[in-house]
Amino acid sequence: MTKKRKVLVTGANGLIGSRIAELADLDFDIITMSKTKNEWVDYVVDFKNVEEITEVLNLSNPDVIINAGGITSIEFAEINRAETTLVNVDAVKVIARWCEEREARLIQFSTDFVFNGTKDWYCESDIASPISHYGQSKLKSEEIALNLGSSVVIRTSLVYGLTNHMSRLNFPLWIYNELTKGNTLKITADQFRSPTFVDDLALATIDLIEHSFNGIIHLAGSKRLNVYDFALEAAELFCLNIELLTPINTDNSGQNVKRPMSTGLNNGLALAVIGYKPRSPKEGLKQIFKKLNTQKN
Ligand SMILES: NC(=O)c1ccc[n+]([C@@H]2O[C@H](COP(=O)([O-])OP(=O)(O)OC[C@H]3O[C@@H](n4cnc5c(N)ncnc54)[C@H](OP(=O)(O)O)[C@@H]3O)[C@@H](O)[C@H]2O)c1
Repeated sequence: MTKKRKVLVTGANGLIGSRIAELADLDFDIITMSKTKNEWVDYVVDFKNVEEITEVLNLSNPDVIINAGGITSIEFAEINRAETTLVNVDAVKVIARWCEEREARLIQFSTDFVFNGTKDWYCESDIASPISHYGQSKLKSEEIALNLGSSVVIRTSLVYGLTNHMSRLNFPLWIYNELTKGNTLKITADQFRSPTFVDDLALATIDLIEHSFNGIIHLAGSKRLNVYDFALEAAELFCLNIELLTPINTDNSGQNVKRPMSTGLNNGLALAVIGYKPRSPKEGLKQIFKKLNTQKN
């Protein structure tokens, strides 16, 4: 029997990292790393302690590192700039240096927020020009990863889903919780994203682990939707009261940090490279609803 390749997944308590680790477990020797300790996490490391990263990498010695860890709150990143740079940029430098020395492959997660949001659809070759500190930190992480001989930068957008080990809610689950309680919600109808079902994203990431592709690749949902319409689709599918949702403009949203208005990610390259064909939002939401109902029973 051939030995399974060792794949270390950071951010293993997060939405994306947890799903990759869950789905790749049969084919790879998965090592989980995250900031918060629990039974699922093999190594607890806070990226602020950069020297601990190298220690754990030396100990675990992975062939591939999937970096899905880091600061993901745009508000937190804007207020805590130095900490965000440490976690989202300096930690990636340390990981990349280790990969270079050991000839390991790095798969680095990035975001649609590297774009300024003035176009409907973005290809990998479009100029990145982030308008927030979060977006700037992610763009720097891309540049670091792309300097390596074997690396992939995955950009994605408004990821949603339900995994067994995730540490926080995502957009449709928040809608589900709030509407179930009868709470009203105001949602922006002038910001456009390509909502991405986490299982599609995780499976495509796993396809890239041993692939010869290097460079930036967009892995997002197939539809470009405004955020209110996505909420509406979720509420309808979850059989909840859509009257509780009100569309608003960004100007009235109280959002303190500027977000790009439109970030549809074009998946054409991913279709060509790995045959990536993501589910429609309806199909992704249906999977969540099925899982929610199974958990209830
Ligand atoms: N979700 C989206 O809509 C979306 C969209 C575009 C791009 N992305 C990118 O995809 C990647 C993963 O996102 P996600 O949604 O899975 O994130 P998430 O659910 O917020 O999880 C983030 C993970 O990072 C870990 N983390 C946070 N601060 C850390 C620190 N100081 N040191 C070490 N680990 C730390 C957390 O650890 P604990 O939970 O253990 O504390 C958590 O496991 C990120 O690079 C993000 O920029 C996500």
